[in-house]
Amino acid sequence: MKYSILTLFPNIIKSYISESIIKKALEREKIELEIIDIRDFTKLPHNQVDEYQFGGGRGMVLMCDPVVSAIESVKTENSIVVLTSPQGKTWNQNIAKSFATQYNHIIIVCGHYEGFDERILKYIDVEISIGDYVLTGGELPSLIMLDSITRILPGVINTESHEQESFENNLLDYPVYTKPHDYRGDKVPEVLLSGHHANIQKWRDEQQLISTFNKRPDLIDESKLNKIQIQLLENLRKSKGDK
Ligand SMILES: C[S@@+](CC[C@H](N)C(=O)[O-])C[C@H]1O[C@@H](n2cnc3c(N)ncnc32)[C@H](O)[C@@H]1O
Repeated sequence: MKYSILTLFPNIIKSYISESIIKKALEREKIELEIIDIRDFTKLPHNQVDEYQFGGGRGMVLMCDPVVSAIESVKTENSIVVLTSPQGKTWNQNIAKSFATQYNHIIIVCGHYEGFDERILKYIDVEISIGDYVLTGGELPSLIMLDSITRILPGVINTESHEQESFENNLLDYPVYTKPHDYRGDKVPEVLLSGHHANIQKWRDEQQLISTFNKRPDLIDESKLNKIQIQLLENLRKSKGDK
């Protein structure tokens, strides 16, 4: 997978990718990343890339030409061009998966200031938001996309790790514990110490459903549950109704 991140603040991107799993993915050539400084594409003096908006109003607006020229410098027929924007479709694990499987070059454009000249949208394939709040720039959203796509690419992390994570089968992950066995009187569930793999798996399946029911009931998709989980779901609903 190749990413091209177009930004006015390349150091924000450089800082994040120089650590941990993303750093390893780059070193092992599982991903390729080019960081494009939008200022390199302005033809105006003093590296100017933004201007006041027509009609008056607050804040500076990124101009079309440097952004479009930067996109065109990296775009090929296999690229998808993503604009980070609070007005976009909300990013989630399913979109991350579809990007990981459908594309091999993702161009991510990071805004700043008051946003972009609206005419930039003609050069964009999809607008993506990371949630209903406004950030100062698109750098964090671009890194969120890069990170969530990269960790599900083959060979980046252990497949088992992400196949059992939250949002797989529309369920949250099961609770996990590590040493010590007893922390201030709070003990690790006995089943996890039993060495009985089938019982551990059963407990984890149940816990996934219980966590999702309690924290994110909106996620549950009954068509993806096994028989035991469906029975448990009925019981959870009944006991909630009883209260
Ligand atoms: C201050 S914001 C501009 C917000 C714009 N005036 C609006 O209200 O829609 C500057 C830039 O940060 C990025 N950004 C801010 N919030 C975002 C979010 N929730 N998701 C994705 N990108 C975001 C976008 O690139 C945006 O152009």
